[in-house]
Amino acid sequence: MTIDEMKERLEQTLSPERFRHSEEVMNEAVRLAELYGADIEKARIAGLLHDCAKGARKDETYKELEKYRVVLDDIQKRTPVLLHSILGSVYAKEHYGVEDREILDAIYWHTTGKAGMTMLEKIIFVADYIERGRNYEGVEEARKQAYTDIEKCIVICCNSTIRYILQKGRLIHPHIIEARNDAIMQIERRTD
Ligand SMILES: [Fe+2]
Ligand SMILES: [Fe+2]
Repeated sequence: MTIDEMKERLEQTLSPERFRHSEEVMNEAVRLAELYGADIEKARIAGLLHDCAKGARKDETYKELEKYRVVLDDIQKRTPVLLHSILGSVYAKEHYGVEDREILDAIYWHTTGKAGMTMLEKIIFVADYIERGRNYEGVEEARKQAYTDIEKCIVICCNSTIRYILQKGRLIHPHIIEARNDAIMQIERRTD
C-alpha cells in the first residue's frame, strides 16, 4: 500500500482531529528521523499509522484483541488508553499491509515507551507528544529538547504523563517508569 492509500484509509476510520494529529505526528517523525539518522520511510509510516486503532470503540477494541489472540497484562487489561497502541500494531499489519517489525514495534510502544527503545521507537514516542497541535504545560520545552536531546525529551514526556496519571489516580504501567529510568540513565552515562 502506498502512503497515499494509507492516508485515504486512515481518514475513513478516524475523526478529522485524530487524522490531523496523525499527519502532524508523521511530519514530526520525519523531521526527527532526518536529524537522528533513523529510517525516514519507516518513521513516516509509523508516525501516520500510530493511532490507526484509535477509532475503535472500547468494546470493539477488546473484542478485536481477543480475535487476534493478543496477550495483555493485568494493567493493560484495565487501562483502555493503552490498548489502541497494541491493537494499532495489529491493524497496521492486517489493514495496511505493514510487515516491517520495527514499524509495528514503534506503533506498539508509542503510548508507554519502554526501556531500551530503538531510535525509531523513541522518535514516534516523542513525535506524538510534540506535534504542532499539542498544548500542555511544558510542551515548548519538550519541543526544544526533541531536536536537541531526545532522551531529555523522553524524560519530560514521561514526567508529564505520570503527573497526569497521578492526578487522575489511575494505574501506572511499569513500562513508562522503565522508559523514564532508562532515559535518565542514558543521560547520566553520557555525562559520567
Ligand atoms: Fe496514541
Ligand atoms: Fe497519537
